[in-house]
Amino acid sequence: MRIDIITVLPELLSGPFDHSIVKRAREKGLVEIQLHPLRDFSEDKHRRVDDYPFGGEAGMVMAVQPIENAIRHLTSQRDYDEIIFTTPDAPVFNQGAANQLSTLQNLIILCGHYKGVDQRVRDHLVTMEWSIGDYVLSGGELAAAVITDSIVRILPGAISDGASALSDSFQDGLLSPPVYTRPADYKGWKVPEILLSGHAAKIDDWKHEQSLEKTRRLRPDLLGDSPN
Ligand code: ADE
Repeated sequence: MRIDIITVLPELLSGPFDHSIVKRAREKGLVEIQLHPLRDFSEDKHRRVDDYPFGGEAGMVMAVQPIENAIRHLTSQRDYDEIIFTTPDAPVFNQGAANQLSTLQNLIILCGHYKGVDQRVRDHLVTMEWSIGDYVLSGGELAAAVITDSIVRILPGAISDGASALSDSFQDGLLSPPVYTRPADYKGWKVPEILLSGHAAKIDDWKHEQSLEKTRRLRPDLLGDSPN
């Protein structure tokens, strides 16, 4: 898989992909992640990528020209499955979307900035838009990092214990059950007896009950109930 990220702030994205699972996935050749500074594609002599909005609102708007050049530069080299734009005014990203994107070959992620992007970019160049939650970040870079991380960690071979990604929260629509490690008794704080019992089937039942209880309590919306 290949992920090309177009951004005005490549420095912000140099760290997140150099650690842990994503770093190992890159080293194993499971994914190639490339950053493309948007300013490199500006035809303006000051390398500007934004301009004042028509209609007189506050804030700057990302212009079409540098974005189109950046996208054309990439799409002239290979076909892309999706061109994703990160922005708060979009559907909220979730595990299902990560699963689906992880099956694709080539992705572009365009990081939003300033007051927004000229609507013509969204109408004519972008194929998919995601928010990572109902709050506003300084830019779409952190959202691009979140989306990339969630995709890469579930690529086959990225996590050595393959079963572990499948038991993540949300993979079955529920939150994960609590987990424990040694010691079984830490200063009187005890691990639930059932986990020490060795009864695999009973332990599975307990985990499922815990998942359901936790989901009902913390995220009833996942069960189709209204959130508290
Ligand atoms: N850019 C700013 N806020 C964002 C959000 N919540 N999701 C995606 N991109 C963003």
